[in-house]
Amino acid sequence: MASQLGLDAGAPEEKGNTPVTTRKFIPVAAPMLVGNEKAYVMDCLDSTWISSSGKYIEQFEQAFADFCGVRYAASCCNGTVALHLALLAFGIGPGDEVVVPTLTYVATANAVKYCGASPVFVDSDPETWNIDPALIEARITSRTKGIIVVHLYGHPADMDPIMSVAKRHGLFVIEDAAEAHGAEYKGRRIGSIGDISTFSFYGNKIMTTGEGGMVVTDDGTLAAKVRQFKGQGWDPNRRYWFPIIGYNYRMTNVAAAIGLAQLEKADWHIGRRREVAEWYNENLKDTRGLTLPVEKEWARNVYWMYTVILDDKNYIGIDHTICITGSAVYPIYFIMLYTRCVNGIETNNYPIYRIISRSSYSSNSRIPTTGIIHRTSSRNND
Ligand SMILES: Cc1ncc(COP(=O)(O)O)c(C=O)c1O
Repeated sequence: MASQLGLDAGAPEEKGNTPVTTRKFIPVAAPMLVGNEKAYVMDCLDSTWISSSGKYIEQFEQAFADFCGVRYAASCCNGTVALHLALLAFGIGPGDEVVVPTLTYVATANAVKYCGASPVFVDSDPETWNIDPALIEARITSRTKGIIVVHLYGHPADMDPIMSVAKRHGLFVIEDAAEAHGAEYKGRRIGSIGDISTFSFYGNKIMTTGEGGMVVTDDGTLAAKVRQFKGQGWDPNRRYWFPIIGYNYRMTNVAAAIGLAQLEKADWHIGRRREVAEWYNENLKDTRGLTLPVEKEWARNVYWMYTVILDDKNYIGIDHTICITGSAVYPIYFIMLYTRCVNGIETNNYPIYRIISRSSYSSNSRIPTTGIIHRTSSRNND
């Protein structure tokens, strides 16, 4: 089993006079390109439509909008710029504050900074590890313009109370769904609940285009703004006319071709993840010192990464057929860049976050409290 999983902690072997280590690197994820990816990419090459126009862009955008259950989808070159585009569409700028969960990838907070605005961190719910809706209101000020919700590791955030608090205070809600393609909240696809939502198609994501992103919304005005910002600010009614400063954030037809093929097999990709998660749940449920990921009764978890919390006192080790690779998310406000954002706020004010991500920063323990468990290995996309 160990070799099947690519795990081998054995001593170096001798080959001639050269010691060769038998240790293998285990990637966080590897893309599964098992559908029409190659055929569609070859079609781009044969037709020479390899830049940011072409039939696959339109087809992928339409198919992804349908997949999420929304009217509009605009492709872009990664999930970070998708967040930037969403914030630009709301006109976020210097002086504004945007609520962001403490436990997320750095891109969520970076996108707020790109606009010259400030991320304001809110701690996590202890069960789902997503933003705790009950703690949001206390962080809202006269400068708060919106909330970015992250569906961490594939489990949806509790959207109803978040939408209520946003409505009460006149705030927008962006769903950062980079890690949760196809997840559901109360029977609705995530990405269709907030005002605007963003996805990543990086190589380790549930669906990939190599590098890529998508912004989806039901709001035609927001969609039009996103399209203009991603295309250098180009006036949709006048060629080579640029009334605003935009960006070149476009996706290529080649990337969209891969994305369309991935989307055609979305149910299969998600089904496989859920099967593997069930396998882990069953095999790990009696392991002392492990907190396994949940699936709340209102949620469909797509298990982007099967992540556990290790209790470093009670943890007694797990079977050698699996391994734990380390912390998937670092505490964002411990990152030097973001210490300013929490000026005057003791780290103790984020107790749940500390528990979930403590290990990365504990000086005398090498055991991560947040770990990713792997079953397969191939190419590196971590
Ligand atoms: C929650 C979250 N937001 C945003 C991003 C950024 O996506 P990308 O790497 O495509 O820029 C990621 C990527 O891992 C992510 O996990």
